[in-house]
Amino acid sequence: MDLLRSLCIFFLCLSFGFGYYPEDDTSIRQLARLWRRQYDVEYKSFHQSEEKLKIFKENVKHINWLNKVYSGKTEFALNKFADTSPEEFQAKILMSKRQPPVFESSRYIEHSGVKFNDLPDSFDWVDQGRVTPVKDQGDVGTCWAFSTVENIEGQWIQFGKPMTNLSVEQVVECDSTADINKNNTNADCGVFGGWPYLAYQYVMKAGGLQTWEDYWYCCGLGGKPGTCEICPPGGYNWTRCGPPVPYCNMTQSCAAKINPKKFVPQLKVIDWKAISQDEDDIAQQLMSIGPLSIALDATELQFYHKGVFDPLFCSKTHLDHAVLLVGFGKEKDLFSTKPFWKVKNSWGASWGEQGYFRMLRGSGTCGMNTAVTTSVLMKP
Ligand SMILES: *[C@@H]1O[C@H](CO)[C@@H](O)[C@H](O)[C@H]1NC(C)=O
Ligand SMILES: *[C@@H]1O[C@H](CO)[C@@H](O)[C@H](O)[C@H]1NC(C)=O
Ligand SMILES: *[C@@H]1O[C@H](CO)[C@@H](O)[C@H](O)[C@H]1NC(C)=O
Ligand SMILES: *[C@@H]1O[C@H](CO)[C@@H](O)[C@H](O)[C@H]1NC(C)=O
Repeated sequence: MDLLRSLCIFFLCLSFGFGYYPEDDTSIRQLARLWRRQYDVEYKSFHQSEEKLKIFKENVKHINWLNKVYSGKTEFALNKFADTSPEEFQAKILMSKRQPPVFESSRYIEHSGVKFNDLPDSFDWVDQGRVTPVKDQGDVGTCWAFSTVENIEGQWIQFGKPMTNLSVEQVVECDSTADINKNNTNADCGVFGGWPYLAYQYVMKAGGLQTWEDYWYCCGLGGKPGTCEICPPGGYNWTRCGPPVPYCNMTQSCAAKINPKKFVPQLKVIDWKAISQDEDDIAQQLMSIGPLSIALDATELQFYHKGVFDPLFCSKTHLDHAVLLVGFGKEKDLFSTKPFWKVKNSWGASWGEQGYFRMLRGSGTCGMNTAVTTSVLMKP
């Protein structure tokens, strides 16, 4: 193959998620070099760079396989996670696998009774300018705090308030809520995962949230400037939550940083609600309530690039990632109509479809319908 054609393939691969990457060693090294330049990645040592190259190569093969299997449906690509092994991805970015929560029946919003055919073809809170820009959780497991805070942002906007980035870091650093109804086995664990339904309870108890700009996100920046080593909040339980950080700077603790005087005035979470597992009902509630917090099994989402995500192997009962449901629609081609959900992720705007992904609607894909919740705000 001539140089021009191979370079062409490289550039197409990187910019458009071209379906197939060459797998020979020379091409892999070249691809890895281009990828590192694009994502501004530097390694500490030759050893690390060789280890990362091995992972990169395995990922290239995996992505090629995915693109073959899901051809015409979902595209996968070398994205920001191209040098992260699936194991590391699972351990650091996703949360430990967890069963869908079951709440007492009074917690659920009454079923709307709506049927698929009663719903509009499409609906999108983003198009209506009601969703803040996509954020990046970095290399820690804080998705649950993003999902919670972004739901609250949506509820705030529903009251006609200006679009406001609220503080995710406050929730990560300050919230150690545990569920006494579940013998405290469900708990919020900072960078090691948590539950939106518990985080709403933290915000209720705390009395409010600061803005993102006031209490900015620093725990997931992977050593880049501005990174913080956060101290666990009071009540944090190491047995339940994970290994202790060897060192933390007390200036980076909730106690030192939080400032209730700076809570967004009038923003008060007073309750939270759950929504049924019926996806037609979820669509109806999404339209009347606003963006909803959901959780799913996101194992195969690592290299998602575009299209409607509908993995063959995906658990409906082992949730490991929390995100924000923002809309739905139907993808039509000559032969079929595929209903999908639109979801806001917290892996930066360069990931997926400008930071969003779409997934199949109507068959409980990856358990996305099993932990749908929203906060309830006081009327300002
Ligand atoms: C929210 O934060 C983003 C950066 O993450 C910024 O571009 C945007 O202007 C902020 N929006 C508001 C309303 O403050
Ligand atoms: C909580 O612990 C008690 C005593 O160990 C046990 O009887 C009960 O079944 C547990 N409840 C849950 C929800 O796990
Ligand atoms: C910490 O969590 C473990 C496991 O859930 C539990 O057995 C223990 O009682 C907890 N400790 C405290 C002080 O809550
Ligand atoms: C703790 O953090 C503060 C502010 O970020 C910094 O000025 C100080 O040097 C740090 N202390 C230690 C011992 O790292």
